[in-house]
Amino acid sequence: MEYRIAPSILSADFARLGDEVKAVERAGADLIHFDVMDNHYVPNLTVGPVVCAALRPHVKLPLDVHLMVKPVDALVSEFAKAGANIISFHPEASEHVDRTLALIRSLGCKAGLVLNPATPLSYLDYTLEKLDLVLLMSVNPGFGGQQLIATVLPKISEVRRRITASGKAIWLEVDGGIKTDNIAEVARAGADTFVAGSAIFGSRDYAATIRDMRERLAAL
Ligand code: DX5
Ligand code: ZN
Repeated sequence: MEYRIAPSILSADFARLGDEVKAVERAGADLIHFDVMDNHYVPNLTVGPVVCAALRPHVKLPLDVHLMVKPVDALVSEFAKAGANIISFHPEASEHVDRTLALIRSLGCKAGLVLNPATPLSYLDYTLEKLDLVLLMSVNPGFGGQQLIATVLPKISEVRRRITASGKAIWLEVDGGIKTDNIAEVARAGADTFVAGSAIFGSRDYAATIRDMRERLAAL
């Protein structure tokens, strides 16, 4: 299993964002997770495509844009132009999920659906084959630093089962409350890509934290 670690800039120092993304790139991150919140779909407000475009020249790593916005489509185009490599959205926030997925891919990005802890897996029934990744929320979206909701663990396993059955190389990313001391459990449930905001940016030594996460994954 190939594992990927995606630091979420939500917990970075926003006054030094360019340096922060470079620091996690140097520290061994695989992706930069970019949380977009609109104070409408979720009760918080973060950053938009202008900030994504500003960061783009600072890192080579893929930018993994997590849209927590409603409506979705206009921002998909803006983020693709701003240099996003992966764009994921919450299906409840799009009127036409299949159309939004096609739009993301038509702009040359990888496409993902994000499911909240209480969102049913039935959203994958007619979409899975068109996805590059499934992003399962292990907290309710809107804030960093929350505790992982344990009921998501069997849900991760069920998505892994569906991905395996599809025969496609679809990533299974999990987002929220992932720390060095539970990353192995999340991996054992079936995840291969791990978002970590406060666990990485809240630590003194980013490289040591990412190394610790990788060692725990390697020990599985
Ligand atoms: C929450 C965001 C997450 C968040 C994770 O809505 O989507 O990406 O930054 O932060 P931690 O790792 O601190 O739970
Ligand atoms: Zn996120």
